[in-house]
Amino acid sequence: MLGHGTVGSAFARLLPAHADRIEVITGIRPELAGVVTTSRGSFEELLAGSDLIVELMGGIDPARGYVMRAIESGRHVVTANKQLLSRYGEELWSAAREHGVQLRFEGAVAGVVPVIRVIQESLAGARIDRVHGIVNGTTNFILTEMARTGMKFEEALTEAQRLGYAEADPSEDVDGRDAAAKMAILARLAFDTPVHLDEVRYEGIEHIQPDDLEYAHDLGLELKLIGTAERIGEGLSVRVHPAFLYPGHPLAPVAGPFNAITVESEEFTEITMSGPGAGGPQTASAVLGDVISAMIPPASTPPTSQRLPIVEDVVSAFYLHLEVADEPGVLAAVARVLAEDGVSVKSVVQKGLGDQARLVMVLHPVLESQFAAAVRALAGLDVLRAPPRAIRVLEEEFG
Ligand SMILES: NC(=O)c1ccc[n+]([C@@H]2O[C@H](COP(=O)([O-])OP(=O)(O)OC[C@H]3O[C@@H](n4cnc5c(N)ncnc54)[C@H](OP(=O)(O)O)[C@@H]3O)[C@@H](O)[C@H]2O)c1
Repeated sequence: MLGHGTVGSAFARLLPAHADRIEVITGIRPELAGVVTTSRGSFEELLAGSDLIVELMGGIDPARGYVMRAIESGRHVVTANKQLLSRYGEELWSAAREHGVQLRFEGAVAGVVPVIRVIQESLAGARIDRVHGIVNGTTNFILTEMARTGMKFEEALTEAQRLGYAEADPSEDVDGRDAAAKMAILARLAFDTPVHLDEVRYEGIEHIQPDDLEYAHDLGLELKLIGTAERIGEGLSVRVHPAFLYPGHPLAPVAGPFNAITVESEEFTEITMSGPGAGGPQTASAVLGDVISAMIPPASTPPTSQRLPIVEDVVSAFYLHLEVADEPGVLAAVARVLAEDGVSVKSVVQKGLGDQARLVMVLHPVLESQFAAAVRALAGLDVLRAPPRAIRVLEEEFG
């Protein structure tokens, strides 16, 4: 492994934790043969003792030379280095083809969101017309905070740095260069044509004012830093700039440090993938996925490592709708019956309907068996005028 920073150290922890499972899947037990950083390890020694090189040092030099040397020595390479691929991808991919090795890079775009694999493999049979992406989590976090709180750009950036979503030097993120590198890679894959970082026009978010977001809100619009790669006539355009989105757009609800990519094609209309776009453990898991893929021939049958038991009783939140007699103490009686089975109420709306009342509530997550017991108990209350109606609520809030 080259580099032992945010992603590298997470990868070094992840590999032994998954080694047993990987051995079952691939028949080979992966081991970290060595690490090279600025202060330790020798690249040539590492290369001599490795079957596969994981490059997580970033930057162009010496990463470019090391990756090329590894490929020429017949080693598979896994990297998350978008700067390297957006500038020197062609020479590296062509060397990998020539030497019959894999050069995999899922972690280079949108962290753990599997957009590279989907475009390269799952959608290989479709003609892609356009890719839209929120591919920089730092700027998406800043824009989300500015819209949510009315903060200025500088304040939201400081907040992003405090929470670890922005680096000490955030310039590549906020000026759009980081997103441009990722869009160059996506465009290259989507349209099967070389695209160099220098061919991507980019604009950042430094000039966005709080009132831009205020007016957008009044108009029902969301502001995002959007990367676009699209076919235009016989050519293509790859660019990054802030853009307003209407609420129905699949990228409009993507908030905080999340990334999302929408792939459009006349053949399948649109596919959107979203998830954490960065972070050590998240990116390391994408890198490990690439390592496993490089260790096995393309999967023809899904491997089984162990049989997991099916869990029947799961935790859910519920919406509960009750028609009850409109008399004093009913709400308290209902709450008491629920509490006896450990079910607590998150919110409630009560509506009078003549001599009847309607209680509509959302309950906190609880084991479904507990909820079922509470509903059976409620059904026995003589104030109930109709069988209880329940629908599950997905409680998770993303972003
Ligand atoms: N961080 C993320 O969330 C994320 C997400 C997606 C992709 N990536 C990509 O993953 C790669 C690694 O990012 P990171 O955040 O883990 O970087 P990082 O924390 O800065 O770590 C870089 C590592 O590489 C080593 N290194 C740097 N220059 C070197 C050189 N000339 N010779 C030998 N070792 C060198 C450093 O050595 P020292 O330990 O001696 O300083 C350090 O261990 C980059 O390509 C980045 O774009 C990162």
